[in-house]
Amino acid sequence: MTEGAALPVVLVGAGNMGGAMLSGWLDGDRDGSSIVVIDPSPSAAITAKLAEKGASSYPSAPEGMVAGILFLAVKPQMMETVLPAIARLVGPQTAVVSVAAGTTLAVLSRHLGDVAMVRAMPNTPAMIGRGITGAYANAAVTEAQRRQVNDLLAVSGPVEWLASEADIDAVTAVSGSGPAYVFHLVECMAEAGRKLGLPADLAMRLARETVSGAGELMRRSSDDAAQLRKNVTSPGGTTAAALAVLMADNGLQPLFDAALEAARTRAQELGQRS
Ligand SMILES: NC(=O)c1ccc[n+]([C@@H]2O[C@H](COP(=O)([O-])OP(=O)(O)OC[C@H]3O[C@@H](n4cnc5c(N)ncnc54)[C@H](OP(=O)(O)O)[C@@H]3O)[C@@H](O)[C@H]2O)c1
Repeated sequence: MTEGAALPVVLVGAGNMGGAMLSGWLDGDRDGSSIVVIDPSPSAAITAKLAEKGASSYPSAPEGMVAGILFLAVKPQMMETVLPAIARLVGPQTAVVSVAAGTTLAVLSRHLGDVAMVRAMPNTPAMIGRGITGAYANAAVTEAQRRQVNDLLAVSGPVEWLASEADIDAVTAVSGSGPAYVFHLVECMAEAGRKLGLPADLAMRLARETVSGAGELMRRSSDDAAQLRKNVTSPGGTTAAALAVLMADNGLQPLFDAALEAARTRAQELGQRS
């Protein structure tokens, strides 16, 4: 596939995140032959799926290929090695998309030139098509490219377009790292239940199903989170007693403020280091 034909979507790095995106693309109505994967050792499952859908795979960037969308999903620490090796895939019509945490557009431009670029931050539930992605497009990205990129990212859930690249660091703090906060919430609820005298495994089952069930309830409801909370809080009841602690001046909000500030600061540091 070269310039002239429709330019392919080239995915560099078919690991956890790249593989999840790729599965979404191949399971949708996208023509498999329009997708190319570059990965030195894709998993057996990915290799089988690529073959089934007629998509091609290379261990490194082939000569003479130009990408329509060049989708970068390698580890941030691999970027300095990978970028020079894939620069040949970038032509005037290419839009580069990176999901690498902390790799700025300035770093990508240093290796790939001043081309159309999108920096995106998905999160882990992308693996089951239930993620959310924050994305920032530079001024060179055309409306048509933005739509194409939006379609590619949307296989893992909603896409929120950001006004500035700096907002990616805040998105990283809220939703990029967010799933871990929720998993920790389950740990905390289970541990508190154990301290109330429940067997540890029962406390964990109760906490886990409560958090996932409440998440699903919230997803299906048109009420916002505050309203859902009020709906299950009777005045003077048990939930109100717990919320009086959680919502006190020294409760969860100041803890979350500090935690997300720390995450954003770390994201900024990683960006400056690259
Ligand atoms: N996982 C998440 O939840 C998440 C969330 C947001 C953003 N991200 C971003 O997504 C990116 C990928 O993360 P991940 O968790 O998916 O990592 P991963 O599972 O390690 O995937 C990276 C893939 O790239 C491959 N690779 C290594 N060197 C390569 C090369 N020279 N050319 C092409 N492919 C190469 C790796 O192969 P080997 O395994 O053989 O080395 C692996 O298959 C990261 O930049 C991360 O910041 C991930």
